[in-house]
Amino acid sequence: MNPLDLVVSRLKAAKRVAALTGAGISAASGIPTFRGADGLWKHFRVETLATAEAFENDPTTVWEWYDWRRGLIAAATPNRAHDVLAAWTAKPAFTLITQNVDGLLERSGAERLIRLHGSIWHVRCWERCARGRSDWLDDTVPMPAIPPRCPHCGAIVRPAVTWFGETLDYASFDAAANAAASADVFLTVGTSAIVYPAASLLPLAKRRGAFSVEINLEPSGASDTVDVCLHGKAEEILDRLCERWP
Ligand code: OAD
Repeated sequence: MNPLDLVVSRLKAAKRVAALTGAGISAASGIPTFRGADGLWKHFRVETLATAEAFENDPTTVWEWYDWRRGLIAAATPNRAHDVLAAWTAKPAFTLITQNVDGLLERSGAERLIRLHGSIWHVRCWERCARGRSDWLDDTVPMPAIPPRCPHCGAIVRPAVTWFGETLDYASFDAAANAAASADVFLTVGTSAIVYPAASLLPLAKRRGAFSVEINLEPSGASDTVDVCLHGKAEEILDRLCERWP
């Protein structure tokens, strides 16, 4: 059986399916990925832009970078990869887990989505003041003032994304781990699969007996672990899968 046929047959037979996405699903929408030939981390240093220490030292530079990325994303449109994954969320048996912060799955209509790394469209008070403690939506592009200020206490606000060295939201990771542990098929899509704890979901799913599939442009950290690799563009492979598992 060819690999695509095998994946379709496993999807059709599965009681539960989970998928973990990464930045690669947004590449066709013109959003740069983090790693790879032209990835963001080739041009920018993680330590100066994506850590709490960086933000404390220089919130203006960090916000300028986020404001630039928010502008790119606001001008982009979801692609077929987002549309297929979002459509599958209408299936009660399907759980979608994402490391993406861009909101394109939500714009494609994803009904239930576990966001592991937060959202670039949400902010929260850096001082965690009483009224600004929880994240709130602020999708203003560009930000009228950088760094933006908390409307409640006047402190700086931060993007409500997970930075390196920070703990993931417990409830989100718990829900993702439950979905991985109970999946009959686990798909890893457009992710380098090397950033933990998200990268631990695939081995967890495998230990619990899931049939595992990598959909990625090129071999990734998951390739040696999965049962089947489908290498190519996620937007094309998911389109083909959706024709047979609508
Ligand atoms: P990466 O940039 O690490 O990986 C993106 C993957 O997508 C690469 O393996 C590419 O080969 C693949 N890719 C590119 N275009 C593709 C396409 N059209 N179809 C399929 N695959 C394609 O992004 P993530 O795995 O999401 O974390 O990175 C994980 C985390 O590291 C991010 O959430 C972010 C980052 O630093 C934080 O900010 C905490």
